[in-house]
Amino acid sequence: MTGEELREVMRRFPAPVAVVTTEVDGERFGLTVGSLVSLSLAPPLVGISIGKDSSSHEPLRQAAGWTASLLAGSQQTVAQHFARRGIPPVALWNGVDVREGTRGPLVVGALAWLECRTVSQHDAGDHTIFVGEVESTERGATGPGLVYRDGGFLPA
Ligand SMILES: Cc1cc2nc3c(=O)[nH]c(=O)nc-3n(C[C@H](O)[C@H](O)[C@H](O)COP(=O)(O)O)c2cc1C
Repeated sequence: MTGEELREVMRRFPAPVAVVTTEVDGERFGLTVGSLVSLSLAPPLVGISIGKDSSSHEPLRQAAGWTASLLAGSQQTVAQHFARRGIPPVALWNGVDVREGTRGPLVVGALAWLECRTVSQHDAGDHTIFVGEVESTERGATGPGLVYRDGGFLPA
């Protein structure tokens, strides 16, 4: 059983798309994730799984928290932007409509936003799972969210 076989199966399973951001020493980092999951309601916990080869991995390990912007169905270009490899952290923010959050930038136009304090980190193969206690939520746009399936984005 290979990782590629797992990927082939999971491609069929629609994943909701979010942009995770964080800030360390005034520098901002962000990436598109399909791994955001609600874990607990009391306390309110969510999780993300971040590849150890991602340039956001080390900043997330160091940061005290992170944000998630839950993307709207119309935000495919934002999702593609934050999934592009190798963009220097500074250039990542050019032309993207964001506003300040307490734990990192928030993407304008999203369905909702979460601000999280990191409560634990778990080694998971070539990824690290970050568990965050949700400190605040805000609701934004109504209407469809963005999902990823079979290598493409679609509103759902
Ligand atoms: C739909 C979608 C979902 C993704 N989900 C994750 C994820 O959950 N965790 C992760 O580490 N990378 C995920 N990625 C990949 C990252 O967005 C991408 O590897 C990262 O932005 C690469 O940038 P880097 O140059 O900063 O490493 C996903 C990409 C896409 C298109």
